Amino acid sequence: MQHFYIDARREFAEEYIARAVLMNGMYEGLYPLGTALARPLIAAKVVEVARRVGADAVAHGSTSKGNDQVRFDVTVKALAPDLKIIAPARVWGMTRAEEVEYARRHGLPVGEEHKKFSIDDNLWSRSIEGDPLDDPMVEPPEEAFRWTVSPEKAPAEPAYVAIEFEGGIPVALNGERMDLASLVSALNHLGGAHGVGRIDHVENRLVGFKSREVYEAPAAVILFHAHRDLEKLVLTPRELRFKHNVLDPQWADLVYQGLWVEPLRGALEAAAREMERWVSGVVRVKLYKGALWVVGRESPYGGYSKELADYSAGWYPSDEEARGFIEMWSLHSLTALRRRK
Ligand code: ARG
Ligand code: SIN
Repeated sequence: MQHFYIDARREFAEEYIARAVLMNGMYEGLYPLGTALARPLIAAKVVEVARRVGADAVAHGSTSKGNDQVRFDVTVKALAPDLKIIAPARVWGMTRAEEVEYARRHGLPVGEEHKKFSIDDNLWSRSIEGDPLDDPMVEPPEEAFRWTVSPEKAPAEPAYVAIEFEGGIPVALNGERMDLASLVSALNHLGGAHGVGRIDHVENRLVGFKSREVYEAPAAVILFHAHRDLEKLVLTPRELRFKHNVLDPQWADLVYQGLWVEPLRGALEAAAREMERWVSGVVRVKLYKGALWVVGRESPYGGYSKELADYSAGWYPSDEEARGFIEMWSLHSLTALRRRK
């Protein structure tokens, strides 16, 4: 038997996380898609190895109840339609507990935490599911968390981070340029130490039912808020609404639903990249006891003008100009109201 160890952290950061930041990738507004993003990359690596050793089939451990089986299967089918896909847990109808027992019987070490929870983690997030979380009304127990301290135990002093973006992609942390994998890793530690990045929600699985999901993702949460804030400073209101209401949620749905290979994903990214050319600048974020606030932002392409916004001086439209504008601005609505009376 042969074993291959592949460290794909850099590739995961540059090709997957970078896109998630660009597209504000949050499924149903809250889940940063860590597991969903990693599956297509893992599947691609498995296909690479299969080709190298001349295999005619690949296997994965997903059950028939989850999203992951879809993500693995679809990616393999796209890259290597000739390869047979075997999911033993699906074939043998195994439950999670039976999988753990199977591993134990065959001498595969399963950590204590995996006996209680189903955990998947990578650079972008730690996904926690399982029995102790199945009642959506019960608060997740402290033992579910590894990356984040509880907000109660976080330091009494806030931390400030400055994140620099170029073309919508983070490139520096507190003035120090670094590759994205290092930046994300540093933010995970910093955010986690301040209890930032815990997520608890009920999620619509692509396989037809709702499930209670818990995540830890300090860097993802911080970068999401920072990036969206910079977009608000730079993009026109029309660009902003189109991106946040149409492009971003579409992208997150495709990625969640196992359709990384769908051509629309690339098209959405291309549209976003066109606008994001100007999303460069620095965002300051304050972290404190599990909460975060964007407290400052600047960009050479920022649309904000103190001259225009200032109440104490500068440009003021005349009474006549303001009245004329308001007259025409409200005309559609007021006409409809009159007709409907
Ligand atoms: N619900 C998340 C998703 O579908 C997390 C899945 C976690 N996977 C796992 N094997 N525990 O992306
Ligand atoms: C699984 O089905 O084994 C993983 C859980 C998921 O895909 O959501």
